[in-house]
Amino acid sequence: MRSVTEKAYAKINLYLDIAGKRDDGYHDLITVMQEISLCDEVELHLCASPSITLSCEGNFHNIDMHKNLAYIAAEAFCRRLGADTAQGVNIVLKKNIPVSAGLGGGSADAAAVLRGLNRLFGEPFTTDELCEIGMSIGSDVPFCIVGGAQICRGRGEVVREVRGLENCNILVAMGGTKLSTSEQYRILDLKYNDFVDYKSGKGYDEMLAALDKTGSVDALTCTRNIFDVLYENTPTMGVVREIMYANGARAVVLSGSGPSVFGAFDTPICEAKKSLEQQGIPSYPCRPVNRKH
Ligand code: C5P
Repeated sequence: MRSVTEKAYAKINLYLDIAGKRDDGYHDLITVMQEISLCDEVELHLCASPSITLSCEGNFHNIDMHKNLAYIAAEAFCRRLGADTAQGVNIVLKKNIPVSAGLGGGSADAAAVLRGLNRLFGEPFTTDELCEIGMSIGSDVPFCIVGGAQICRGRGEVVREVRGLENCNILVAMGGTKLSTSEQYRILDLKYNDFVDYKSGKGYDEMLAALDKTGSVDALTCTRNIFDVLYENTPTMGVVREIMYANGARAVVLSGSGPSVFGAFDTPICEAKKSLEQQGIPSYPCRPVNRKH
């Protein structure tokens, strides 16, 4: 096999809270992540010269190839593989997932590169080993390697699979612009006094129990995303929420550290999409992706 194509699915956070601050400066997370059908496509072509190249098509903000997580993932994979990598790889990235949005697009691309290279090189690594390589690239990469719906804790380590959302429509939209992720964590550190007396996990057990029982969007009525407070006063967020609820959303939830929000509907989403468009707000209709392992 000389080439493979991998789908790189975006993720949404069905729940996101911070349990505390860690000694390494990161934060211990309590999160439930779910893959959605909005995706990039990653083509990997093995080539004779031992170099890594990357080209991008589509909705892509031109950044230095060497800073792209797909490129960094290929480098990390080849480094871990060691002496056997006389071959190089040409990566072609077809972007559809909005960047810096809280949808894990860069992490999904990195995970797709790791999964794809593992296939091309005859599965030298187990899923756990791929996740280990993935964690060195970004906190969401292990989830994107495993996919489906998963509880993730710590920096983002996958803990266990859960029942995901089923039989629903998801509409993703941008609720404003954002600061860098690390800046957002810094603001939360200040607001919650480094999480010293912070009571985390509000609504978590209820949400998980409801999700496990029904797979229904109604599970999201008791959810929480700690980054919500950073968007309280942004006008676009208000408009997005209002339009989605007015058009049948059962829940409207921030994903990751934003600014993307997703509406979860058990009815069609065309009216909500149309109304958002009339306000000049692009949106992305999709469905949950649930994998069977
Ligand atoms: O690992 P990743 O590149 O996704 O993280 C981006 C930034 O978000 C980190 O540099 C860190 O400041 C913050 N972060 C954190 N705790 C996490 C994940 C990310 O503080 N669990």
